[in-house]
Amino acid sequence: MYDVEKIRKDFPELNILVEGKRNAFLDTAASAQKPLAVIERMSEIMSHQYANVHRGSYSLSEKLTFEYEKARQTVQRFIGAADVREIVFTRNATESINLVAATWGRRNLKPGDEVLISEAEHHANLVTWQVLRDEIGFRLKFFKINDDGSFNKDLFLSQLSDKTKLVAVTAMSNVLGTIFPIMEIVKSAHAAGALVLVDACQYAVHAPVNVSDWNCDFLAFSGHKLYGPTGIGVLYAKYDILENMPPYQLGGEMVDKVTYEKTTFDLPPARFEAGTPAIVEAIGLAEAMNYVSGLGWNDICLHEKELCSYTLEALNSISGLKLVGTAENRGGVFSFVLDGIHPQDTAFILSKEGVSIRTGHHCAEPLVHRMGYETVARASLGLYSDKEDINQLIRALEKAKTFF
Ligand code: ALA
Repeated sequence: MYDVEKIRKDFPELNILVEGKRNAFLDTAASAQKPLAVIERMSEIMSHQYANVHRGSYSLSEKLTFEYEKARQTVQRFIGAADVREIVFTRNATESINLVAATWGRRNLKPGDEVLISEAEHHANLVTWQVLRDEIGFRLKFFKINDDGSFNKDLFLSQLSDKTKLVAVTAMSNVLGTIFPIMEIVKSAHAAGALVLVDACQYAVHAPVNVSDWNCDFLAFSGHKLYGPTGIGVLYAKYDILENMPPYQLGGEMVDKVTYEKTTFDLPPARFEAGTPAIVEAIGLAEAMNYVSGLGWNDICLHEKELCSYTLEALNSISGLKLVGTAENRGGVFSFVLDGIHPQDTAFILSKEGVSIRTGHHCAEPLVHRMGYETVARASLGLYSDKEDINQLIRALEKAKTFF
């Protein structure tokens, strides 16, 4: 039995007052709150177990190296990767995508090639390819989505060709909440000879990722959205691809042999982790994954599914509120606008009622424009969100309407 009220007690920040009101935190899509298990584990390391990893021949360093590499195994299991060497720790999903563009992209893409992305991409999975396109001269193509924000297979297939070398797509939109059918996309892309990069930043928070089932070639996500700390992210890539990618950054611990004349590089994943890594953060992320696994994906998904229906019904009951993105296959990210009220004003009034939401273009400016808006408000759920959060949101939205 999923006891959300008990779970909320694991997250200290949810139990503070905001503006003297109950904290209805509805901005998990931007960054999630952290469970005590993560906070305590990180504090324990920094208080009593800290040393650099991979470098020290003393017990503190050896023990923490063991924990850091154990964290990599936790990530491997969490996303169903076949081989632990396929897990590269990065700073966040943005850095993971930049790494792929700067290494695999620069080595493999040439004029005449095509990179295909959706209209619904976050800037991290859009600007990165635009800038590389300008450098290399390949063609960057976009596949359209339906007006309700849902995936349209025909429109996707119409853009895919034997020139497509990479399909880079989100598994779940951070604006519309739409879930994209990754397995289907991968099958079609592979049949056309293209590799697939999945931005799983939002999806990984709401449902289990399995890279082996998806058979994607690259996958990126951030720790801080997944109830872990900031400053840590993951790049998954199939080992044979990773092995043939040049280094991203250069420095300590990513080399094989260095002379004054030349350098040879280490094997993945070390090749892609130059310098002292985010040690405490990687272990914190593993702790967050253990926490999620401990609750169990089945129960988390059931809880969020029910709360999504509750939220949709509640938002639809507000006159003058328009949902932006109404795809059937969706997760707990709800963008909306209120008639005659600027989203910024909506968020300000909500904030005074203890309700935290995000507004703006959500780092997906072309998508928000494509949906017909300059800026939208967004409420997003996490595994700790409950019906009272939504009731508080609805009361605050009704109050906001009385000001205008
Ligand atoms: N990408 C994050 C969001 O959607 C920051 O808010």
